[in-house]
Amino acid sequence: MDLRKAALALGLTATPVLAATPALADFDAESYPPYERCALCHGLFGVSANPRFPHLGGQKPAYLAAQIRAFLDGARHNDGGQMVAIVTELAAADIPVAVAWFASQDPPPPTGQIAATTAYADLGCAACHDDPADPLAPHLTAQHPEYLAKQMEDFRTGRRAGSDIADMHRALLTDHAAAIVPLATDLAATPRPDFPQ
Ligand code: HEC
Ligand code: HEC
Repeated sequence: MDLRKAALALGLTATPVLAATPALADFDAESYPPYERCALCHGLFGVSANPRFPHLGGQKPAYLAAQIRAFLDGARHNDGGQMVAIVTELAAADIPVAVAWFASQDPPPPTGQIAATTAYADLGCAACHDDPADPLAPHLTAQHPEYLAKQMEDFRTGRRAGSDIADMHRALLTDHAAAIVPLATDLAATPRPDFPQ
């Protein structure tokens, strides 16, 4: 047993120190918090460097939990299979820990320039996505534009499917393929209402 594990077993420290950089030989996945597994792709604080991986920081907790369940049970599989490989390695008790971690981080910073499309208003997207009381409609603002565009395209083509809400997005976007990139550009450039000023 190494010193860190011994200290944990004795209850001397409740949470491992994130800044610690132990030698690889000391790496012991069980003594790390579960969200560290997510950091490689999503960023430790939920701001990801690569637009293939969505920002998770400040996202609604019920939405994060619902998506993890959807990857686990196969209902969502438009990610090329990366997420199922990760979430099946999580213990059930790790899921709320990872969700609470990312949901409590600051939202990502907005990026790019507003293209000023009216599609968001015209198609009624705000009714759910701008309703702070809707726990399952994710924040879209300040998300990577490439990720947003991919999700809309996946809804439109049926790659992200299998629920009434996915069918609804497909119906909304079917005749509006040309609006997807301007929508994604505007949303990415719009600060989250709770973005620290
Ligand atoms: C190897 C890279 C990788 C790792 C590690 C990873 N993810 Fe993901 N994650 C992805 C990809 C890829 C997507 C979806 C991209 C897509 O749909 O096009 C995704 C999507 C998600 C989503 C959906 C977000 C949204 O806005 O719909 C959640 C929630 C999520 N991941 C949580 C986690 C958690 C929690 C962990 C750690 C336990 C984790 N991920 C680890 C690659 C990763
Ligand atoms: C009736 C409520 C409602 C309306 C209207 C709506 N959405 Fe959604 N949207 C949701 C919900 C709920 C989800 C989560 C889907 C899931 O659980 O898979 C979602 C998911 C999304 C996502 C995926 C985000 C992510 O992080 O992966 C995008 C992008 C999106 N919506 C864009 C839009 C756009 C653009 C419009 C207007 C054309 C729209 N939505 C209209 C409720 C709505």
